[in-house]
Amino acid sequence: MIINFNFFYFKSITFFKFLNGFLLLFLKFIYFHRYNNYYLVGGITILKAINIVYEYPDGTRALNNINFKVEKGEMVALLGRNGAGKSTLFLHFNGIHQAKSGEIFIDGEKLEYDKKSLLKARQKIGIVFQNPDNQLFAPTVEEDVAFGPMNLGLPIREVEQRVKDSLEKVGMFGFEKKSPHHLSGGQKKRVAIAGILAMKPELMILDEPTSGLDPKGASHILKLLHDLNKEGMTIVISTHDVDLVPVYSNKIFLISDGEIIANGLPNEVFSDVELIRSADLRLPRIAHLAEILNKKDGLDFGDYYPLTIGEARAKILDLVNKD
Ligand SMILES: Nc1ncnc2c1ncn2[C@@H]1O[C@H](COP(=O)(O)OP(=O)(O)OP(=O)(O)O)[C@@H](O)[C@H]1O
Ligand SMILES: [Mg+2]
Repeated sequence: MIINFNFFYFKSITFFKFLNGFLLLFLKFIYFHRYNNYYLVGGITILKAINIVYEYPDGTRALNNINFKVEKGEMVALLGRNGAGKSTLFLHFNGIHQAKSGEIFIDGEKLEYDKKSLLKARQKIGIVFQNPDNQLFAPTVEEDVAFGPMNLGLPIREVEQRVKDSLEKVGMFGFEKKSPHHLSGGQKKRVAIAGILAMKPELMILDEPTSGLDPKGASHILKLLHDLNKEGMTIVISTHDVDLVPVYSNKIFLISDGEIIANGLPNEVFSDVELIRSADLRLPRIAHLAEILNKKDGLDFGDYYPLTIGEARAKILDLVNKD
C-alpha cells in the first residue's frame, strides 16, 4: 500500500492554518465586543437610516441626507442644539414621519408604511416622545403604563407585574391611581418612560429623556438606561446635555441643521472642539477645565481632554505622580 505522506502533510497544514485563522477571528470578535462594552451581543445592525431627507409641509428642510446606524447592545446619543432635527429624525424610526427620500431598515428589513409593517416595527422599537403630553392619555397612571403590554395581548398578571416593575424602576410606584395630567412635568416624563419600558422593546429611543428632570432625577434615569443597556437593551437618546452624554453612551452622532456632522466614540467626537462649538454646543465642563489647564497653564492631557470626572481624576493623578 502506498501512503501519500505529502498529501497528509498538506492536509494537516491546511487544517491548522484554517484553525489558526478561525481562532484569530474569534479572538478579534471577543476583543472588539469587550472593548465596545457590549460583549457578545453587538455587531448586528438593529436600525439603519440611509440618506434620509425630510421636509415639513411648510417647506422647512429638517433633515438633509441623514445616515444613522445603531447596532444591537449599543447606547447611542444623538447630540444637537434646539432645532437641529433630533425629534424629526426619531419620528422616522417608527414611521410617524415618512422621508421624502431615503430608507429606514429595522433588523435588516426595510420599513414599509402599511398597518402591519408599522405594528411590527413599533413592537421592536419603543419611542419616548420629547413631550410626555403627546404620550400620556389614559385616566390613571397604571392604565397608561398598562396600555402597551395589554395591546401586546399579554396575560393580565404579566401586565400587572410589568406595570409595577416599570413604575418602580422610574421611581413612580405609589402614583398608580393618579391622573397623569395632575403630575408635574418631571413625573409625567418618568411615567412616559415607564409606559415604553413595560413593553420591553428591543430598542428603546428616548427624545430628551432628562429634560425637565431635576439633577438627581436626570442621573437616576440615565443610570436606569445604563443598567437596561447592560442587561441587553439597545438604547438611543437625544440630548444637548454634554456633561452626561460621555458618561453614559458608547457612540455619539452629532447633528446640526439637519445633517450628521460627526459620529464616533465620545472621545473622538469631543476631540474636535471647533466642530462642537460650531454646532452651538460646548465641551463637557470637565473637558473645558482641562482645555484651560492645557492652554493657560501648560498641563499636558495627552491626545484628548478627559470627558468625565473619573477620567480627569486618573489623568490628574498621573500628572501629579510624574512630578
Ligand atoms: N411641524 C413643523 N412644521 C414646520 N417645521 C417644523 C415642524 N416641526 C419642526 N420643524 C422645524 O424642523 C427643524 C427641526 O426641528 P426638531 O424639532 O426636529 O429639532 P430638535 O433637534 O428636536 O430641537 P429641540 O432640541 O428643540 O427639541 C426646526 O427648524 C423646526 O423649526
Ligand atoms: Mg426635539
